[in-house]
Amino acid sequence: MRWGINNKFINSMTQKPLIIANWKCNPTSQKEAEHLFVAVEKEIRNIKDVEVVICPPFVWLSLPGGSARDGFAFGSQDCHWENKGAYTGEVSPAMLKDLGCQYVILGHSERRKYFQEDDQVINRKIKVALKNNLRPILCIGEENRDTFDSEGRPLNEMSLVVGQQLENDLVDIPEARIREITIAYEPIWAIGSGNPCSPNEAMKASLFIRKTLAKLYDRPKAEKVKILYGGSVTSQNAADYINQAAMDGLLVGGASLNASEFIKIVEKASQ
Ligand code: PGA
Repeated sequence: MRWGINNKFINSMTQKPLIIANWKCNPTSQKEAEHLFVAVEKEIRNIKDVEVVICPPFVWLSLPGGSARDGFAFGSQDCHWENKGAYTGEVSPAMLKDLGCQYVILGHSERRKYFQEDDQVINRKIKVALKNNLRPILCIGEENRDTFDSEGRPLNEMSLVVGQQLENDLVDIPEARIREITIAYEPIWAIGSGNPCSPNEAMKASLFIRKTLAKLYDRPKAEKVKILYGGSVTSQNAADYINQAAMDGLLVGGASLNASEFIKIVEKASQ
């Protein structure tokens, strides 16, 4: 990354794009999960210059073959805020690390909405993930597409929500660790809607995120943080976010459940 004209950050693409598959609560059988792993693994190992991370449901993380897959790393979709203890139903970061996970998605909008996770909980989870040397992928994003009030003034929901989430979720995260966190900008209105964010809107969000990180830390540290786009990514629009919106990679939901579509997305990112 570097500062460009008008004091804006420009993605210099010196790092490999990072493509993350979020399988969410899919597929429902071991057989299908195994099939998907194998289909992705077969093609992905031939694609160079892209870092791929698959985040399946917890149970599919421990299928035979485990974390020793070729061509991609593993992440989980959540973790508990403690390493062990009397927390029925929870999976801890220490367990995930022991299984070979390298990444953990935290603060996904579906966790915030359906499981009432607030910024305080997400902040605790980021801290414990870092303690276990798991790399957090922090998801942030506004609920409604930016609109205008009755007098035509922009409501700036993106900057309000994203700014607040960054400030709250990163409380007391030491500056030495910030580069280990990846930020995924996922506007809620674009997730699973088939109505993706335009590259221009994504670019604005990415610049805003980097400026906020520069305020919370400093410019050189902000430059090192990877910023991804997520929300209705397909093989048709994947390259636009990387080439036009200066994104460092993508967080792919629905399209990651179709091996050939996901592979096409990774290929687009590598070009
Ligand atoms: P989507 O989901 O690609 O299906 O929109 C993205 C996400 O929720 O991470």
